[in-house]
Amino acid sequence: MFSKLNVALWAIPALNYFSQCSGYLFAPDDDQVITDPRLPVLFDIPAPQTLLPTPESPVAGYWTSSFLTTTTGSQYFLATGVVVSTQDQLAGYGFSLLDLATLNRVSHSSITTSFANSDIIGLSFAGPRYKISDLSTNGLGMTVQGDAENASVNLTIHPTSRALYYGGSGAWMYVDKPMYGWALPAAQTSGNITLPFPVENASAPTNETTGDAAVAIIDPSASLTWYDHLWGHMGLQEGNITWFNLFVDDKAERDGDHDDKELNLALVSYLLDSVNPPFFSRSIHVRQRDRNESALAIIPVDRFEPSSDPSAIWTSPLTGLSYPQRWDLGIEGRGLLTISSVLGDQELVDPGSGGTTYVGFVTVEGQFDGKQVSGYGSVEVKFVQRLP
Ligand SMILES: *[C@@H]1O[C@H](CO)[C@@H](O)[C@H](O)[C@H]1NC(C)=O
Ligand SMILES: *[C@@H]1O[C@H](CO)[C@@H](O)[C@H](O)[C@H]1NC(C)=O
Ligand SMILES: *[C@@H]1O[C@H](CO)[C@@H](O)[C@H](O)[C@H]1NC(C)=O
Ligand SMILES: *[C@@H]1O[C@H](CO)[C@@H](O)[C@H](O)[C@H]1NC(C)=O
Ligand SMILES: *[C@@H]1O[C@H](CO)[C@@H](O)[C@H](O)[C@H]1NC(C)=O
Ligand SMILES: *[C@@H]1O[C@H](CO)[C@@H](O)[C@H](O)[C@H]1NC(C)=O
Ligand SMILES: *[C@@H]1O[C@H](CO)[C@@H](O)[C@H](O)[C@H]1NC(C)=O
Repeated sequence: MFSKLNVALWAIPALNYFSQCSGYLFAPDDDQVITDPRLPVLFDIPAPQTLLPTPESPVAGYWTSSFLTTTTGSQYFLATGVVVSTQDQLAGYGFSLLDLATLNRVSHSSITTSFANSDIIGLSFAGPRYKISDLSTNGLGMTVQGDAENASVNLTIHPTSRALYYGGSGAWMYVDKPMYGWALPAAQTSGNITLPFPVENASAPTNETTGDAAVAIIDPSASLTWYDHLWGHMGLQEGNITWFNLFVDDKAERDGDHDDKELNLALVSYLLDSVNPPFFSRSIHVRQRDRNESALAIIPVDRFEPSSDPSAIWTSPLTGLSYPQRWDLGIEGRGLLTISSVLGDQELVDPGSGGTTYVGFVTVEGQFDGKQVSGYGSVEVKFVQRLP
């Protein structure tokens, strides 16, 4: 089902630097202006935020990856989203929450037919134990709420990051038809998460008598969300796609000298191999953060090498699919990044439905424009097999 719905595919970004103490330096953008009217884009934001899937664009989805620090210093990666297909009357949604220190993980995903069109008007989808919707006060912000066994999330994402229009204007070729979309790469994030696993210094520690989970409050100054909205046909029928959302900067920041930081980049890349119909694409979007610039470079990827080293492949016991855990990504004329997954099991599976995607937290090391860079992000890997 999932392969029919062909959900997928969006990745989410982040960066990973090690700070003075430990952990990653997650910092949101603080952009005052979200769109730049000088650029000839195809649509305004948030107009498409109210776009339902249509016959012309039968699949639409919202996807976020959040890089979170709590008020007590714990860090988490949360990937979540929903994809709705009006053709099939199906919605796939889910979330994956990873403790970045212990690598404990909890996930929940599902495919449902039990939603009405009224559930997806505007940016508002409510499925069993899951809701994603816009903020009535501001069409660009949104909330995500999800419940899994012993774990729940309730995040608010604020529009503080300049919109990145995919393809430069908001459209690009995906297999055999255009796909549309934009992202807010590093949006401020607030809210809280309730955790199934013991957390050190959680504001409400696990109740040892009842086993009630602990609640952790998000620190918005040290958290960010990559927020995507995509729509179109998304017609990958047979093949695979790998998405990366990455945040990298040069190492000067890790030496504590922010003024020396020359590179602070948000990157999004997708590498698409469609077998039938044949279509192959390799490119990366590169955006400088912190400079109040709208410039976006779209650069060919001249090297994409998932590791074939058996120690850098994770095979899912649930689905039998094998996921690379390390990738070399060459950015033509600019640099070479090595991307590593921190944990094999970051697969999202809806048992019984065939819906499977892989959304993992990754770290990045490499060179860009002659500088050493490092960072963090997310990878999404999706295999789509033709249904018999
Ligand atoms: C938890 O609190 C203790 C005592 O205040 C502190 O030493 C420790 O670093 C804290 N741990 C985290 C993960 O913040
Ligand atoms: C939820 O918590 C209960 C009680 O601690 C535990 O037995 C169960 O395995 C947990 N479920 C998951 C999915 O973690
Ligand atoms: C989630 O957070 C929002 C915003 O703070 C709040 O209005 C809502 O009541 C919360 N929902 C739950 C289930 O806690
Ligand atoms: C978690 O967030 C929700 C929504 O903001 C709020 O209602 C709830 O009180 C929060 N829980 C804690 C323990 O702060
Ligand atoms: C744990 O839960 C029990 C039963 O609700 C309650 O009596 C107790 O006060 C709780 N302990 C803490 C430390 O909150
Ligand atoms: C993706 O598809 C291409 C073309 O079929 C294939 O060469 C490649 O090995 C696939 N990638 C993975 C990770 O399976
Ligand atoms: C940032 O850029 C926007 C769009 O070009 C402009 O309207 C705004 O004045 C700029 N802000 C600053 C602080 O330069």
